[in-house]
Amino acid sequence: MYFFELFLFVGVVNAGHLSLEPMNEGKIFGGQDAKDGDAPWQVAIQKPLNRTFLCGGSILNKHWVVTSASCIGNTSAAFLKVRYNTLKLGGGFTLFVTKVIKHENYSEYPRDYDIALVRTLGIIFPGRKNSNPIKLPEKDETKTNGTQITISGWGTYTNGSEEYSQNLKLGKLTISDQTKCKQIYSNEITDRMFCAKDDKSKVYSGKGDDGGPASKDKTLIGILITQYHKCNEYDIFTNVYQFVSWIKKHIN
Ligand SMILES: *[C@@H]1O[C@H](CO)[C@@H](O)[C@H](O)[C@H]1NC(C)=O
Ligand SMILES: *[C@@H]1O[C@H](CO)[C@@H](O)[C@H](O)[C@H]1NC(C)=O
Ligand SMILES: *[C@@H]1O[C@H](CO)[C@@H](O)[C@H](O)[C@H]1NC(C)=O
Ligand SMILES: *[C@@H]1O[C@H](CO)[C@@H](O)[C@H](O)[C@H]1NC(C)=O
Ligand SMILES: *[C@@H]1O[C@H](CO)[C@@H](O)[C@H](O)[C@H]1NC(C)=O
Repeated sequence: MYFFELFLFVGVVNAGHLSLEPMNEGKIFGGQDAKDGDAPWQVAIQKPLNRTFLCGGSILNKHWVVTSASCIGNTSAAFLKVRYNTLKLGGGFTLFVTKVIKHENYSEYPRDYDIALVRTLGIIFPGRKNSNPIKLPEKDETKTNGTQITISGWGTYTNGSEEYSQNLKLGKLTISDQTKCKQIYSNEITDRMFCAKDDKSKVYSGKGDDGGPASKDKTLIGILITQYHKCNEYDIFTNVYQFVSWIKKHIN
């Protein structure tokens, strides 16, 4: 049964390529509501003129947030807002955005270098219950099989629904064997990405979670970029370790 499913899965991937589009179903399934302090680096990135647009991001310091370039798309800084210090989708504080830096090598298709930095106009005050920076990684956790990471977001939480979750959700995933994941996705997983999934296939991300953090020990390991949403198998992340010097160059 397992191999039969795998065969179908590979067939779909080959026919349509990895569907690196905004996710259109799911939630942080099997996830739980976050409590104060569980993910204080989490922000929501919103388009003030378009209430349907949302993705996640992580606080790096008083002015900078990191997200995916695909979250920003072609939206200019003037149309973005960062919402922080909240577990509730409409809560906390919002800040205008003065600058967006998408990675110079970002490619939408095939997906690669999917990372962007967002500078806020006002200061992101640290030290509140739900507002604190996340650390950048000092080693490549994706090289260790079985590392556990926590994902978070307000992404859609019912199958097929367009409703965002009102409460921030958390879910735990395990970093997958990268060789196997690359095989499954026909090598569309570049060295700048990694795959993770829940061993029991109960937790996965939904629309609106992309751009958000995958953390371990208060350190940002990955940025959610997509899931193969027809199978709900793997979530795909940008490997932050590969971008530490790029990030530091721009935010310091
Ligand atoms: C709002 O954003 C969504 C997703 O990016 C898009 O599909 C929709 O057309 C936008 N609506 C307006 C009014 O711009
Ligand atoms: C962004 O703009 C580029 C260049 O005009 C275009 O190729 C691309 O499809 C646009 N992306 C989105 C998500 O609209
Ligand atoms: C962008 O891609 C080129 C060619 O693959 C590579 O040499 C360069 O180092 C990349 N730039 C950054 C900032 O990673
Ligand atoms: C989500 O809905 C689709 C279509 O209705 C279904 O095939 C799929 O099994 C559902 N997934 C979950 C996790 O309920
Ligand atoms: C990772 O774990 C998988 C499944 O447990 C195993 O098959 C694989 O050989 C491991 N890979 C490495 C690099 O340790």
